[in-house]
Amino acid sequence: MTKQRVLSGVQPTGNLHLGNYLGAIRNWVAGQSQYDNFFCVVDLHAITVPHNPATLAADTYTIAALYLACGIDLQYSTIFVQSHVSAHSELAWLLNCITPLNWLQDMIQFKEKALKQGQNVSAGLLDYPVLMAADILLYDADKVPVGEDQKQHIELTRDIVDRLNHQFGKPNQPVLKSPAPLILAEGARVMSLTDGTKKMSKSDPSDMSRINLLDPPDLIQTKIKKCKTDPVRGLVFDDPERPECNNLLTLYTLLSGKSKQDVAIECVEMGWGQFKPLLMDAAIAHLKPIQDKYQSIMDDKGYLESVLRDGREKAEDIANQTLRRVKGALGYSLPL
Ligand code: AMP
Ligand code: TRP
Repeated sequence: MTKQRVLSGVQPTGNLHLGNYLGAIRNWVAGQSQYDNFFCVVDLHAITVPHNPATLAADTYTIAALYLACGIDLQYSTIFVQSHVSAHSELAWLLNCITPLNWLQDMIQFKEKALKQGQNVSAGLLDYPVLMAADILLYDADKVPVGEDQKQHIELTRDIVDRLNHQFGKPNQPVLKSPAPLILAEGARVMSLTDGTKKMSKSDPSDMSRINLLDPPDLIQTKIKKCKTDPVRGLVFDDPERPECNNLLTLYTLLSGKSKQDVAIECVEMGWGQFKPLLMDAAIAHLKPIQDKYQSIMDDKGYLESVLRDGREKAEDIANQTLRRVKGALGYSLPL
């Protein structure tokens, strides 16, 4: 039996944090041997908000190296850069022309980002989910492992598939395949260290709100020492009045590899002064091998370049076939 295909990606804007890792990349690694996987660095998405051209290429390499450092295995997975495969932009254009404008205007993430940005919101920001749909559909992906915040974009992708198949497919011969989101119950929404009601985010102006995968141990200690807690003694999960408590216990569970029940028992009578060092140690110990591996990959730029070159070739092969299929269905004369 052929394996199901998985596709996912992360934007090269700054460093990766524990939300990206626990919500997305950890799932990619855990499931990779079951699937045929494609993981891209979505650098075309990175310019939907103002970006710095001086750091874009280096950030792209950092993310690709972090994929490998977190355990993405080339035996099962292909790693590539979105902008290296021009079919992504081209399919996005074709999908644009069949996607109703109001579907895009209704996207929560667009509304939030547009509000945050105020002036000069680009057409690209509105169009972001259509490019994401192109990323997924080019590879006929069955599953898309992401954090909770991306669920709506995958639903939109499915709506685009239905619309395109309905308009341009033949009965029993769909042009595009509908993907399903793959979202884990734990870690799908890691919250900010400074406000347990907001998600941990690359765009939060305060670096104290997140733990980045490449933060050195002393910085991790400082961030946890200063993170927001509450004055209650005894630490419990799932109390809606105590979002920080739930978030920090969840982080401890995921980083220590213990079960939720064990952590609930271990922490039920603890105060913050006793708990915080445990969380610090778990975070530092979990990230140490990732950081060491990242360093060794970055010390050998030629290796990373060869990974991305091979990745581009494999990705391009599949993407170009799908693009040709879609263009054919839309009635284009195909280049001979
Ligand atoms: P981004 O940082 O927006 O490029 O997101 C990359 C991936 O990380 C996506 O799959 C997101 O759903 C996931 N992600 C981002 N922030 C969080 C968070 N705070 N908790 C869980 N997953 C997240
Ligand atoms: N929009 C996703 C995010 O910010 C990144 C992304 C782009 C993506 N293309 C994708 C995720 C395709 C999964 C599949 O997190």
